[in-house]
Amino acid sequence: MFLKSVAFLPAFLATVHALNDWSVPCFNGECTYDLPAHRGGAVGSLKIWGANKNAITDITPASGWVILGCDPNALQQNVRIVCQADESDHQSCGNLFRELGKSGKIVRLPETCGKNAFGRLSKTWVDADQSIPASIASKLNRRAGQSPVVRGVAIDTDFKALDVSETGPVNITIEGSTFPGAQGATARRAARSVLFDKLVEKRGFFTWIEDAFGDFNTFNLSDSTDITAVSVDKTYNLFNYGLSCPAGNGWPAYSASAKADLRATTNAVATIGVAAVGTIVPPDLTEFGMFTALNADLNGQFTLVASASGTADTGIKTLYSVGLPGLDWPGILTLGPTFKINGQALATVDVDVNLNVDLAYTLTNAKLFFPKSSTLSSGVGVSPGSSALALSVNPSLASRTYVEAHIQPRIEVGIDAIAGAATATVFLNVDAHADATLSLDAAAVITPREETANVEVDSRAVTARVTGCVDVNAGLNIYAGADASFFSLFDKSTSVTLYNKSWDIYAQCWGTSTRRSEIEPLLEARELVPRALACPSTNVDTLVKLV
Ligand SMILES: *[C@@H]1O[C@H](CO)[C@@H](O)[C@H](O)[C@H]1NC(C)=O
Ligand SMILES: *[C@@H]1O[C@H](CO)[C@@H](O)[C@H](O)[C@H]1NC(C)=O
Ligand SMILES: *[C@@H]1O[C@H](CO)[C@@H](O)[C@H](O)[C@H]1NC(C)=O
Repeated sequence: MFLKSVAFLPAFLATVHALNDWSVPCFNGECTYDLPAHRGGAVGSLKIWGANKNAITDITPASGWVILGCDPNALQQNVRIVCQADESDHQSCGNLFRELGKSGKIVRLPETCGKNAFGRLSKTWVDADQSIPASIASKLNRRAGQSPVVRGVAIDTDFKALDVSETGPVNITIEGSTFPGAQGATARRAARSVLFDKLVEKRGFFTWIEDAFGDFNTFNLSDSTDITAVSVDKTYNLFNYGLSCPAGNGWPAYSASAKADLRATTNAVATIGVAAVGTIVPPDLTEFGMFTALNADLNGQFTLVASASGTADTGIKTLYSVGLPGLDWPGILTLGPTFKINGQALATVDVDVNLNVDLAYTLTNAKLFFPKSSTLSSGVGVSPGSSALALSVNPSLASRTYVEAHIQPRIEVGIDAIAGAATATVFLNVDAHADATLSLDAAAVITPREETANVEVDSRAVTARVTGCVDVNAGLNIYAGADASFFSLFDKSTSVTLYNKSWDIYAQCWGTSTRRSEIEPLLEARELVPRALACPSTNVDTLVKLV
């Protein structure tokens, strides 16, 4: 499919970007490319090079080729091109045909042609459509009597189809970040990239990743006002089940229910950076470093109101999800970050219970170096915010109740390397959690519903009868990992812990009972409430406030 539009590249682009030199064709076996800055401030550069000069060619204007029609958004397309002057000149258009093996070669594309900066040019032919727009024909520089030949070239990003025995290995280095103002750092990197070969000789590839980590480490999110914050303030229902309970023992039919809500109030800013080294032919990354920076105010208010008894585990639910600015060298390396809030509630309830827990933390300068850094440590500053706890239960029944709640803001970075040669998601998970264990004995006497209908219940009197223990813990676990193996750089077992602490926020026993929690939390239970839900064994609805 050919488009009618004609693409000429403005010459000024060469001065806008630091590494791209659009005035020099990539005929010497190496080529560089800078990520165009866009909203979100992503900057980045990429370099490819190989010992075989003919492994890389060029169809930007500097090469002598003029593109007659090209889809700026496609990754795979046939493009019509015509040589501005002499097609057989190896110093210009003719470079394309040199050692063009069966599998093709890498080609640099102008910004206006294809979504990608580099593609695979797999074959070329004399095109059936030899028409050339007059405006272009008049600019072609032809010797008298020679008519220009319109060529078709097939372009895709199937780099793995390139035969290394034809092209030789083609190396690649990439780095970039979404931190606004990283321009300076990237310019330094660009300068280093030019000296790359020397650097590699002297210090090895891994040092290069460490250097990039060093640059990323200078980012201070608190300093930047240019990053769009993610703001969430919403209440999510985790579960809500009800059932009808029959009349009995002198009380009428009634309904019982179990409902858990999580109000998430979060403000977060995050950026990512990446540095990678490897070969584009054959597709392989041998060194890789990903950086994530996060600042967040996190507040989760968990509420459980249950009158039915039963067991619930919602599993991890995604409550909120939004894309963040990413890094994209289409066909070569794409990092697409997503900010999510996950929530989970587990409950084994056998008594009327109302529970409110607030989980509040401020996270400052969280920094993740993934999968590892030999010189820098991943870490985060944590200050707990004001948290609240309220708990009421029906004291008329013995109870072995366990409730656990999680609010988990997380950043997931989907990574696609060299046109799908490897894909994985790296996550930075902030798990703020709390659990409450009730281990209560039945109170001696409780007035049934009918009899209390017109009677004031003396809650102090009821409280006094409660015996047993309540234990409430909170914790914050911040860690990173991956969902798949990525070349031989990291896999599911790779994990980085930034923070892991838990606190006993409330522990109290009443009455004669000195027994602490003896129950086994039913963490394994995956049954949803309706199946396990039961009517309480009494309909007494008097709750006493324990905490
Ligand atoms: C490509 O990288 C390898 C290391 O992976 C290095 O040994 C080789 O010299 C590099 N090739 C060129 C042409 O620099
Ligand atoms: C980051 O910037 C903030 C605000 O300018 C400053 O208070 C803080 O000390 C800086 N943090 C680091 C680690 O430099
Ligand atoms: C966090 O600490 C708890 C104990 O407090 C431990 O059981 C858990 O394995 C730790 N998690 C990580 C990821 O280190």
